Amino acid sequence: MLNKILIATDGSDHARKALEYASDIAAKYEATVYLIHVVSPLPSMPEVDVQKIQDIQQKIAKEIIEEAEREIKKKGVESYQSTILQGQPAQEIIEFARKNSVDMIVMGSHGAGSVETLLLGSVSHKVSHLADCTCVTVK
Ligand SMILES: Nc1ncnc2c1ncn2[C@@H]1O[C@H](COP(=O)(O)OP(=O)(O)OP(=O)(O)O)[C@@H](O)[C@H]1O
Ligand SMILES: [Mg+2]
Repeated sequence: MLNKILIATDGSDHARKALEYASDIAAKYEATVYLIHVVSPLPSMPEVDVQKIQDIQQKIAKEIIEEAEREIKKKGVESYQSTILQGQPAQEIIEFARKNSVDMIVMGSHGAGSVETLLLGSVSHKVSHLADCTCVTVK
């Protein structure tokens, strides 16, 4: 029943907790993990070297994914694939889940933006409402 589990990470402590939770489940079910990180578009900023910032964004994205890979391997997940996407995080997560017919999306309740006055962050809120599959937000 749980063959494909998508874990969305922004590299935050919240996402790390979600990753631990999801990879435990994935290892038990021998499910394939789809690790994804979405790089958000830059706001328009005059007089800055956009290319340089994008290079840094890519470097950070790779580090986030590599750290997540190390973590899930430690938890005993054997089958996984990692993807770095560009765009609006919630939209990209929902679309990726649809295209790959995942059974469950696991996210942190909050993320790197963490003003924790709201019940959920904007990405986890949007994904929970709009995705076709079960969404788990880890607290
Ligand atoms: N860029 C991203 N790529 C992949 N997953 C993400 C991304 N941003 C958020 N997530 C996932 O969504 C969870 C909740 O993060 P979210 O961005 O909703 O909260 P926040 O950063 O606290 O609030 P906000 O971004 O609305 O200020 C994260 O723990 C992570 O699992
Ligand atoms: Mg955020």
